[in-house]
Amino acid sequence: MKAYIRKKYGGPNKLQLLDFQKPSPKEDELLVKVVATSVNPADWRVMRGTPYMIRLMMGVFKPKNPFIGADVSGIVEKVGSKVTQFKPGDEVFTDVMGTGAGAFAEYVCVKASHWVRKPQEVSHKEAAATPLAGITAWQGLNDIGKLQNGQQVLINGASGGVGTFAVQIAKHIEAHITAVCSTSKVEMVRSLGADVVIDYKKNDYRKLNQQFDLIFDAVGNVSPSIAKRLLKPSGICVMVGWSGFGHFIGFSLGKLWLSKASDKKLESFTAKMKTEDLSLLAELIATNKLTPVVSDHYNFTELPAAIAFQERGHAAGKVIVTVSE
Ligand SMILES: NC(=O)c1ccc[n+]([C@@H]2O[C@H](COP(=O)([O-])OP(=O)(O)OC[C@H]3O[C@@H](n4cnc5c(N)ncnc54)[C@H](OP(=O)(O)O)[C@@H]3O)[C@@H](O)[C@H]2O)c1
Repeated sequence: MKAYIRKKYGGPNKLQLLDFQKPSPKEDELLVKVVATSVNPADWRVMRGTPYMIRLMMGVFKPKNPFIGADVSGIVEKVGSKVTQFKPGDEVFTDVMGTGAGAFAEYVCVKASHWVRKPQEVSHKEAAATPLAGITAWQGLNDIGKLQNGQQVLINGASGGVGTFAVQIAKHIEAHITAVCSTSKVEMVRSLGADVVIDYKKNDYRKLNQQFDLIFDAVGNVSPSIAKRLLKPSGICVMVGWSGFGHFIGFSLGKLWLSKASDKKLESFTAKMKTEDLSLLAELIATNKLTPVVSDHYNFTELPAAIAFQERGHAAGKVIVTVSE
């Protein structure tokens, strides 16, 4: 099988597409033939080993694990001897980041308990678009933000992989959505269900005379003082994306300050792959309540170009890579 690996930290040109022996599933694993994958900012961060502090976990001088890639949708080829819930031919999807496997490969072998059955109504491309970005949107709005029906939510970065899921999930929760994106994406974000769309090229949401129950920041430009001004009493600002080390430090200190100065909260979080969350998203997609937005398609040999495109930071929804037809 072919898989992308990197022996050193660096840009997409450090990726190599090499031949490996197809893995054999252990007793509790599935061997899955990958049909489609998608690219996330986490992929190029892991590829480059930036910010540098992540190298403390991933290898200081060179990556300990050469494989990369998170999102996978594919077809079960073999099951381990103790696997009862799946059989060859089943269609499955998941996020393999943190398992040791890499999604940018023709086959992946991961524990059966990590996979979710792909509903027939959901295409492999839609399924590959969903795990990391969809779960981040769901956990940020639901688990951390506790968004409720009728509440006011501000979604910053509404046009990206995470933001396009967040707008639709907030709509499903029946919140009132104010979304921030750039001019060319205003109509797309409105069509996903945003009630008010602010074009950040023309207007600055930070100057709004309005308050929100929840700010979902997938860009990383909400400062603690702006959050304090824009949040209602007991409101919460969830930092999903961060724009640099300075922002991260300012946010962490601001979190302490805000909790002492008011009843408003700042929270950051790292999304965790949970099969129950992914199953819920799959059900919403299968019943047309959620549609993954796929703006750009690449084939497997173009994967470095797909990562380079994603890294430029202007995607409208998800960047999909077809691995096998
Ligand atoms: N906490 C977690 O567990 C977690 C998980 C997944 C992702 N993330 C982070 O969340 C962030 C978003 O991820 P993503 O997958 O959505 O990224 P993405 O697909 O690259 O999307 C970024 C979007 O933001 C828009 N944008 C850029 N500058 C903006 C601004 N000033 N105001 C409003 N929108 C702006 C871009 O479009 P335009 O340039 O046209 O505006 C683009 O559509 C990243 O920092 C990522 O690392 C965190």
